Amino acid sequence: MAWMRRWPGAFPVFVAEASGARFSDIDGNEYLDLCLGDTGAMCGHALPFVAEAIERQARRGVTAMLPTEDAIWVGAELARRFGLPLWQLAMTATDANRFVLRIARHITRRPKVLVFDWCYHGTVDEALVTLDPTGRVVARASNTGPAADPALTTKVVQFNDLDALQRALADEDVACVLAEPALTNIGIVLPEPGYHAALRDLTRRTGTLLVIDETHTICTGPGGYTAAHGLDPDLFVIGKPIAGGVPAAAYGMTAEVGAALQSFLADDGVDVSGIGGTLSGNALSMAAIRATLANALRPEDFAVAIPLAERFTAGLAGVIADAALPWHVQQLGCRAEYWFCPPPRNGAQAAAAIDAELDAFMHLYALNRSILLTPFHNMALFSPYHTAADVDRHTEVFAAAVDELIA
Ligand SMILES: Cc1ncc(COP(=O)(O)O)c(C=O)c1O
Repeated sequence: MAWMRRWPGAFPVFVAEASGARFSDIDGNEYLDLCLGDTGAMCGHALPFVAEAIERQARRGVTAMLPTEDAIWVGAELARRFGLPLWQLAMTATDANRFVLRIARHITRRPKVLVFDWCYHGTVDEALVTLDPTGRVVARASNTGPAADPALTTKVVQFNDLDALQRALADEDVACVLAEPALTNIGIVLPEPGYHAALRDLTRRTGTLLVIDETHTICTGPGGYTAAHGLDPDLFVIGKPIAGGVPAAAYGMTAEVGAALQSFLADDGVDVSGIGGTLSGNALSMAAIRATLANALRPEDFAVAIPLAERFTAGLAGVIADAALPWHVQQLGCRAEYWFCPPPRNGAQAAAAIDAELDAFMHLYALNRSILLTPFHNMALFSPYHTAADVDRHTEVFAAAVDELIA
């Protein structure tokens, strides 16, 4: 993966072994892991119950292009947690998003999707876009070989701007809004009070489907931001941690969306529909999802992890205030991130504060003191395996880095 090289320094750390909240490298150094595979290992590394489930299932067959009994348990558990009755499996959150966009366009017969500026939903063509300084939709500068001019497929508005959202949906040519409940890929940008109710209302009034992508915001709690804040999406995407780090993702839908898909599901062409994959829903991933959802990401796990993120946030806020820096630290559940500006309202404001050199300094300073932060973020994620002493150690290192910066 090209981005494994995107760390400060000439080469990445090569991992020897990971367990709980720690890993060691091949030179024998031990690290405190605040990255947790950028959410893939949010429940902690090398979970014994996942390892056992993988071993058991590997001995009974990894994939047969048929369901195993675990599918029944997993479907019921996803419905219980996230509130949508019908579920499909994918291998990655990117794939789940791709399939959901197809479903939305198929049902509504509308050509466009709407995303928020500086969102990230994986390597999804329609979402690797941004607004240029004149407000035109363009491919993100890094978007490699875009299939089409993204202005043809996508509308982009700023997060927390209801007037812009209303104008963009008024033409009734948008199949769905694809949204993280809070932006988590340009620092953390929280929704303003009432934003989600208005988003739901505007999408309903314009016949636009609402897709909530909880791949990162599962950090909020066992049912994600959706359950914690009573959101009511038409489609729902979850990936990364749900199988304890084994590749797997899921997308859920309402009964109405499911009913609108019946003719598609019954069609003989379903195998070449552009939705799904040979290994989607394979027995190994399904066993790993079951083991994870049965033994992790539970209320008692968040009851340990969220206070650690609160402690991290309070500690860093104190250092930032003492140094009178114009930075902030934002928390969402067991995730927290500092950013080099006051709390932004939207992705564009957050993006304006990106400082690659400062980023590299903070990451390398921490890494040289055995703490791994998340790359392309200043994000720390907490699992039940972290401790208050881990948080305090990071705060100490962060304070020392700030001291050196302002000295
Ligand atoms: C909100 C969101 N959705 C989807 C994805 C894509 O996940 P993956 O790279 O596992 O496909 C990401 C990745 O960071 C994400 O942040």
